[in-house]
Amino acid sequence: MLDISTLAQTDAAARDFARTLNAGDVVYLIGQMGTGKTTFTQSLARELGVSDYVNSPTFTLINEYPLDSFTLVHMDLYRIRVAGELIEMGLESVVNDHSIALIEWADLFPEALPTATITLTFDLKGHDERTLTITRH
Ligand SMILES: Nc1ncnc2c1ncn2[C@@H]1O[C@H](COP(=O)(O)OP(=O)(O)O)[C@@H](O)[C@H]1O
Ligand SMILES: [Mg+2]
Repeated sequence: MLDISTLAQTDAAARDFARTLNAGDVVYLIGQMGTGKTTFTQSLARELGVSDYVNSPTFTLINEYPLDSFTLVHMDLYRIRVAGELIEMGLESVVNDHSIALIEWADLFPEALPTATITLTFDLKGHDERTLTITRH
């Protein structure tokens, strides 16, 4: 379990984690609203070479960032009400061997998603004690 209570700790943890990723990885980001999932993803994306600003995909559901050897795919399922919407999105065309997928709120629709290779669990205790647990499957 990592202490990511400060933004600097979150940034460092995200950059370290980014360097362990490989094309084909599917990363579930689990944790309540405001625990830092998007913030972590922003640092991770910068480390992987994304120069665009990484927005929260709360409304777009899915953002794609093409890089040299894979596409970084960032999803947020919070607003998807039925798993059918996910299947209609044609996930296999965006989450595949040529992508690294980061999926916020993946626990809402596990049956409609590719299996996670790594699960990140974010916790917030009180209002400033943040932790991250990395589980590799
Ligand atoms: N380590 C941190 N220290 C302080 N504030 C943080 C930290 N991580 C995230 N935040 C802040 O918490 C808020 C919610 O973070 P966000 O990444 O959007 O959460 P989530 O995507 O899990 O809903 C943002 O205002 C963000 O700046
Ligand atoms: Mg978010």
